[in-house]
Amino acid sequence: MTFEQWRQQAGGTVRFFSLGRHALVEALKVAGVGPGDAVLLPEFICRDVLASLHALGARPVWYAVNESLAPAVQQDAWPAARAVVAVNYFGFPQRLAPFRAYAARTGAVLVEDNAHGFLSRDDHGQWLGTRTEIGIFSLRKSLLLADGAMIRCGMNGFADRLSAPLAEHGGGYAPAVAVKARLRRLPVGGPQVAKAATTAIRLLRQWRSGSSVLGDDAEAERVIPAPAAPHLGLQRELAAFDPEAEIARRRTAYADVEAFARRHGIRPLFPALGDATVPYGFAFRADDAGRQTMQGWAARRGFDVISWPALPDEIAGRVADALRDIRLVNFL
Ligand SMILES: Cc1ncc(COP(=O)(O)O)c(C=O)c1O
Repeated sequence: MTFEQWRQQAGGTVRFFSLGRHALVEALKVAGVGPGDAVLLPEFICRDVLASLHALGARPVWYAVNESLAPAVQQDAWPAARAVVAVNYFGFPQRLAPFRAYAARTGAVLVEDNAHGFLSRDDHGQWLGTRTEIGIFSLRKSLLLADGAMIRCGMNGFADRLSAPLAEHGGGYAPAVAVKARLRRLPVGGPQVAKAATTAIRLLRQWRSGSSVLGDDAEAERVIPAPAAPHLGLQRELAAFDPEAEIARRRTAYADVEAFARRHGIRPLFPALGDATVPYGFAFRADDAGRQTMQGWAARRGFDVISWPALPDEIAGRVADALRDIRLVNFL
């Protein structure tokens, strides 16, 4: 399978962007969200996503999420909104039935946020991000790209509302990631060299800005930190990558790390990897010692262990404790 074949299977109409946040702005526009409108979000989301609402003058309203990352309360108790966002966390399919029921009952437009789940499918074999009329993807989270994101709209009227395609432009939001991709492909020690380069970039960022991660401040809730157009070369890179190999790489990494975690008494967040799930990474819960153990496994393979998400200020105080200790071995 090539990316073009994936696109054919996905059907509908797509547009490309630099960041998932720009794809989400487009998704909300297409859904008819405007100034003052409410957008219903899960209380487990990274704060940056609020910048997409901010761009349209929309405001967030919330539904609580349980330990399995599904809605914690019945949809009939969710607040009213113009659009509702369902998230396929870490590439695992979110069960859409409650969201469809909410949308049918209230007229809200359902957006499938598949930022984490490019190439993943649900138990019926349907590609995540294509299960609703409007889906978004952050391709840069699955592939080593300077940037890359996408919206896909089905054929029931929403596609007609899409903006014109944006021409590729410039070196991208994170040009260092493109360098990392080249290092990773080195014939000897590629993953380790790439990892060392990432560490160096973080140290440099820490030294310059006081924070080793991008966007970890309140401004991230208001500003999308890059122009909307994807970088020059995105289509060429998408045409060159091998989806089957990437699917196999992610699923093998997951099976390996899951077996390792279980041997060390560390609980995966999701009880099982579905037959067609292509995970963003390995999500787990552990104490400090367990995290160290997982860090060791990840470091040997050139992977990072990350904490996700950096929560929006408005909900940071009320998110359940059980959701605070989630960590992710990132397979990027
Ligand atoms: C669930 C979810 N949606 C959307 C986004 C936005 O993607 P991007 O960082 O490419 O803007 C993120 C980013 O972390 C995310 O986690």
